[in-house]
Amino acid sequence: MIEEIEQLQEEAVAAIQGAADPVALEEFRVRFTGRRSQLRTIMSGIGDLSEQERPAVGQAAGRARKAIDAALHQRTRTLEEAGRESSRIDVSLPGRRPMSGVLHPLTRVAEELVTILEGMGFTVADGPEVDDEYHNFDALNTPADHPSRDLHDTFYLKDGRLLRTQTSTVQIRVMESGPPPVRIISPGRVYRRDTVDATHHMVFHQIEGLYVDKGVSMGDLKATLTAVGRRVMGESTRIRLRPHFFPFTEPSVEYDFSCGLCSGADSDPGGPTCRLCKGTGWIEIGGAGMVDPAVFEAVGYDPEVYTGFAFGLGFDRISMIRHGIDDIRLFLENDLRFTRQF
Ligand code: DAH
Repeated sequence: MIEEIEQLQEEAVAAIQGAADPVALEEFRVRFTGRRSQLRTIMSGIGDLSEQERPAVGQAAGRARKAIDAALHQRTRTLEEAGRESSRIDVSLPGRRPMSGVLHPLTRVAEELVTILEGMGFTVADGPEVDDEYHNFDALNTPADHPSRDLHDTFYLKDGRLLRTQTSTVQIRVMESGPPPVRIISPGRVYRRDTVDATHHMVFHQIEGLYVDKGVSMGDLKATLTAVGRRVMGESTRIRLRPHFFPFTEPSVEYDFSCGLCSGADSDPGGPTCRLCKGTGWIEIGGAGMVDPAVFEAVGYDPEVYTGFAFGLGFDRISMIRHGIDDIRLFLENDLRFTRQF
């Protein structure tokens, strides 16, 4: 009996000392000292032994229990120590830099334009990218047979709604929501069924501007666009308005900023060609004009009392010029190798 106990003790102590981790150690604790362990069985049987046997067996069992407990205690400490050791910080290692994001080059230009225009009293308004024909076309005085409503230009949804082709939709939404005066801008995404290449994309970006009040003039429009051009492209920037047609403005213009690369010096038709303006001296930026009275009527403003100007400014081009980006597709590819450069 005593031999059996001593053997048990030896086996248990060896197993415990070899336990690889706290889970294994716990298993041994249960196996060797738990309620159904061999040692417990022996101990609970001591009372049935003869007077002579009882003391020696009792002492052997007590020794075994003590030895096993000591081994458990020792191994627990050793394993804890090892755990602390392995998680200790090595201060001599180089630090791990947290990944920091950067703003997308389009976001940067948009924020810059917003800041400039906010400084001139405009506030930002928002509108949905999925809109309806009414806001994208009808209310903007664009009749059903207008070429820009052709399926080739517009993405239609099955339910008849569409992806807005211009941010001018926001003009209508803002004017519907309250009376004049109105002085808003709205940067955002627009969609057209264009063939994608290095300078065209079916998804591009505009910032819309609308200023309606008593006595707003074309001079105000030109001054506003000139100020924006100078701030965003440099103080020596000049602006050029060219007559154009938009259904929702009358008169309408397209406007250009002078080329920041050759400053128009390269405008000689036979001479060398500036890579940015292609020798024209000008960079096309957007469309603008005086709000057509038909638009005011659609939203319930009195065209006899109020006048207003509106403009749309495509800023993909501005961002490309600013950052030397030569392919518009890069903006939307979600490639971190691109965005991390800014
Ligand atoms: N929405 C026009 C476009 O995408 C640009 C434009 C022209 C906006 C004239 C205007 C405007 O606000 O008055 O081509």
